Amino acid sequence: MRRLAVYPGSFDPPTLGHLDVIERAARLFDEIIVAIGVNSSKRPLLDEASRIAALEACTSSFGNVRVDRFDGLLVDYVQAEGAKSIVRGLRATADFEYEFQMAMVNRRLAGDLETIFLMTKWEHSYLSSSIVREVAQLGGDYTGLVPAAVVPFIESALRT
Ligand code: PNS
Repeated sequence: MRRLAVYPGSFDPPTLGHLDVIERAARLFDEIIVAIGVNSSKRPLLDEASRIAALEACTSSFGNVRVDRFDGLLVDYVQAEGAKSIVRGLRATADFEYEFQMAMVNRRLAGDLETIFLMTKWEHSYLSSSIVREVAQLGGDYTGLVPAAVVPFIESALRT
């Protein structure tokens, strides 16, 4: 059986922490779908097409990672793709409450799916897309916080 997992997120923008989780997941599963979901409570910096292109640019060296997007419930998307696992990154304890809620709701909606948490490298443990957005929008140097391939997409979004 082919082990397929979905790594969902807003990825606005993808950070070095996200890439680290993708790398770890790609070693554990036969195939990873990095899936951009719509989080209605957040106003995006990068539009969806830029997020897809940015993720494709920084994951092109992996043979078993593909990038996609989804609308609606995550569990419906995961089931439609034939996956059984959802991968999420865990940083510090601050993530736990939100991740716990999401995993429990998803389990209630689809009991056959499993959420698997992977911890990022220590040096990425403070990183978040919202921190990167804020630093970038206020003119700070964010370039060491995201994969190099993502920088042009952020620069272009900042100019518009
Ligand atoms: O990177 P994020 O913003 O933490 O990702 C959140 C995301 C997109 C994974 C989450 O909001 C999501 O799954 N949205 C789809 C709608 C859904 O299924 N909601 C119920 C579970 S919370």
